[in-house]
Amino acid sequence: MTENEIIEAVSRVEVRTGAQRTIKSYALRSNRLDDEQRRIVLDNYERYCVTFQDGPADPAGFFTDPSKPVIVEIGFGMGTSTQVIARERDQYNYLCLEVYLVGFVKLLRDISRLGLDNIRLMRFNAVDVLERMIPDSSVSGFHIFFPDPWPKKRHHKRRLIQPDFVHLLASKLRKDGYIYCVTDWEEYAQWMLEVLSGEALLVNPYDGFCPPVAWRPMTKFEKKGLDKDYRINELWFVRR
Ligand SMILES: C[S@@+](CC[C@H](N)C(=O)[O-])C[C@H]1O[C@@H](n2cnc3c(N)ncnc32)[C@H](O)[C@@H]1O
Repeated sequence: MTENEIIEAVSRVEVRTGAQRTIKSYALRSNRLDDEQRRIVLDNYERYCVTFQDGPADPAGFFTDPSKPVIVEIGFGMGTSTQVIARERDQYNYLCLEVYLVGFVKLLRDISRLGLDNIRLMRFNAVDVLERMIPDSSVSGFHIFFPDPWPKKRHHKRRLIQPDFVHLLASKLRKDGYIYCVTDWEEYAQWMLEVLSGEALLVNPYDGFCPPVAWRPMTKFEKKGLDKDYRINELWFVRR
């Protein structure tokens, strides 16, 4: 890819823009790269990133070892837990989606320094990626950690976890694949439990929330919630 093509690929994050815009689960901040970020992107994009395409692409083929099952992480933030999990659970490949440019470049820098070859990044709206690019029954798990709670009632429609989106996630899963969500927002946790429980393609192996998953590392973000005495609720659903 040329430098211009790479910069263009990290600058566009959604299919519908302007008048066509649909409801978004994120509020986009700056889209500008400083010189250092630009260098990180240009040096590492082709090895570690995947460009959005409007048509099916087998996610296993994005990785050096395509025999490993693919986990998709949605909204990795700064990628702190992403890299720990990918290192410690390296029997999987991780396709990691985030629209937040600072976080995207930070994780790209970290994985290039660590040489973590079982992670691929996309800076693109996860809804578009799943709807248009990822084939059904091709994903072994989804990680959705601390999605924006959109606490005001009039913003609830912006929450990522909605019946249609959960159905989309479930249809991308292989049999026995999982959806693992974590939140520190009590009311969103109840909402998630209701929405996930209502999806016919999924089963909950637990009675309500699942016990804390030992391999998920604590992040700064989570620590802040715990300091405010928020309870962390985890949900684990499996594809029938
Ligand atoms: C509250 S942060 C949590 C970040 C991280 N998972 C953590 O635990 O620290 C939620 C992230 O999800 C991202 N996000 C929200 N909707 C998204 C979407 N449709 N596609 C990709 N990323 C999304 C936001 O940009 C934001 O960085």
